[in-house]
Amino acid sequence: MKKLLFFSNNKNKIIEIKKIFKKFNLEILSLSDLAISDEPEENGQTFEENAKIKSDYGFNKTGFPCFADDSGICIESLHWKPGVLSKRFLNNFKNNSACFENIIKNAKKNSKRNAYFKTSISLTIKNNQNIIFNGTIDGTISKQVKGGFGFGYDPIFIPNNYNKTLAELSTKEKNEISHRSIAVTKLINFLTN
Ligand code: IMP
Repeated sequence: MKKLLFFSNNKNKIIEIKKIFKKFNLEILSLSDLAISDEPEENGQTFEENAKIKSDYGFNKTGFPCFADDSGICIESLHWKPGVLSKRFLNNFKNNSACFENIIKNAKKNSKRNAYFKTSISLTIKNNQNIIFNGTIDGTISKQVKGGFGFGYDPIFIPNNYNKTLAELSTKEKNEISHRSIAVTKLINFLTN
């Protein structure tokens, strides 16, 4: 079975990725499987750059083909930010509700409601040779915070052609349309064809 390192410390992501890849006869190794505890600084300006920093680092350290992902939300009324700083932006508020209210207020004030989530996956297979797989989901910022599923910005994001936020969709429904699933599907198609 082909072995690949997934460069992530997010336990939920690792479980999900291991499960998906098993079906395709690909064995996923995680950082903890290889007792790797150090990580590079994610100082890229784009999702692609940050994903590449991580996948190059993992490959150089272990010699296993390595992939890594980087995701976030880009909001029109915030000049398409916070982007690569999505996690930090949310954590800078006293809680998620305060952040969501701020984003909703801004979207209303500027009459700009568009937003998208993006995931970039970088796969490093040889020294300095990486391939990028992108996934995006377009939508709008909701007028109210809604829903209890998911994580992060899900409660304020309504995908195009839907009338519910991502947090009102079940995990299965979200996985059918999400930026992350799109990028992962492209990676699997590449690896299995
Ligand atoms: P990561 O690179 O996948 O860890 O994502 C960085 C941050 O972007 C997360 O901490 C979330 O705040 C936000 N984010 C990424 N993907 C999603 C999503 O599917 N729903 C909601 N927020 C997300």
